[in-house]
Amino acid sequence: MRDRFGREVDYLRLSVTEGCNMRCIYCRPQAASAAFTHDVPSCRENCRIASAREPSCGNPSAERCIEIVEAAAQLGIRKVRITGGEPCVRTDLPEIARGIAAVPGIEEVCLTTNGTLIAPMAAALKAAGLARVNVSIDSLDQDRYREITRGGSLAAALEGLDALAAAGFEGTKVNCVLMPGINDDEVEGFGAFAAERGIGVRFIELMPIGPARELNPYQQPLPLSSLSPIAGKPAKGNRPQLQVIAPISAPFCSQCNRIRVTADEQAKPCLHSREELSLRGLSGDELVDALRAAILAKPAGHNLASGASESARDMSRIGG
Ligand code: 5AD
Ligand code: SF4
Repeated sequence: MRDRFGREVDYLRLSVTEGCNMRCIYCRPQAASAAFTHDVPSCRENCRIASAREPSCGNPSAERCIEIVEAAAQLGIRKVRITGGEPCVRTDLPEIARGIAAVPGIEEVCLTTNGTLIAPMAAALKAAGLARVNVSIDSLDQDRYREITRGGSLAAALEGLDALAAAGFEGTKVNCVLMPGINDDEVEGFGAFAAERGIGVRFIELMPIGPARELNPYQQPLPLSSLSPIAGKPAKGNRPQLQVIAPISAPFCSQCNRIRVTADEQAKPCLHSREELSLRGLSGDELVDALRAAILAKPAGHNLASGASESARDMSRIGG
């Protein structure tokens, strides 16, 4: 359906967990956050990290994820991206993907992941009907990767990429958030990596939200326009091999086609607005109405250029 500004909203980003096996410096505070204090037994069963670093949250069940997508599809949502946290901490992820892909009206289900836990479930995700996967990798240097992710393994992420290729996934992309003075010297390296693997790499401008605000204290967006000569170079299958996503320097709000639903069932009309509409306890027409209200509540755009995001919650609690 169209929002108040005539934008056709057909894309849902659905977060299935706030939990993650890593703690990226721009995404999470150093210590386990207070957000991870509640503990729901039904949720623990499907969570690979529940008993490890942090208790899992009250994540929506696979059935609930599917119910939300069914309601969204009635409003014209055609594409769903599963996000987190890290979606692969949920062992029932293939079931979630399969259920969403089978919802009438849904044409494409994609996933954003850090890739480190995906290898054992790559084939099941392919069989479930998942179309494409974006893998977040912010450095190709293993020591630097470990620092950025506070303990993550680059080798595991690369194994994830290999497993996706082996499972037959095409169009896999790597997302790299460029951080001034931390990894912004790796553009060329990622370019070579993209060419070598025949995959796309997207450089993403760091947005001032949550812990990311401290990483860019002067609020200076990276001069991503200087990267534009490398962007758009065609790769295999005519897909651009290197892309730049610059929400601050080149906002795409006027073409925004998405809404988000968080893992605690709050519909967010815009990543950077405070507004949230609770879907908790709603079903049938009430659920459809709440999602419609979220679409109609979409603002014209964000205000990132003037400072920090107005979102009341951080990326880890929204879904990337
Ligand atoms: N700025 C830009 N991208 C971000 N992501 C998470 N936090 C930020 C931020 N502050 C990205 C991740 C991943 C996706 C889930 O969202 O790097 O690619
Ligand atoms: Fe986890 Fe992704 Fe956040 Fe990193 S950016 S801590 S991988 S959810």
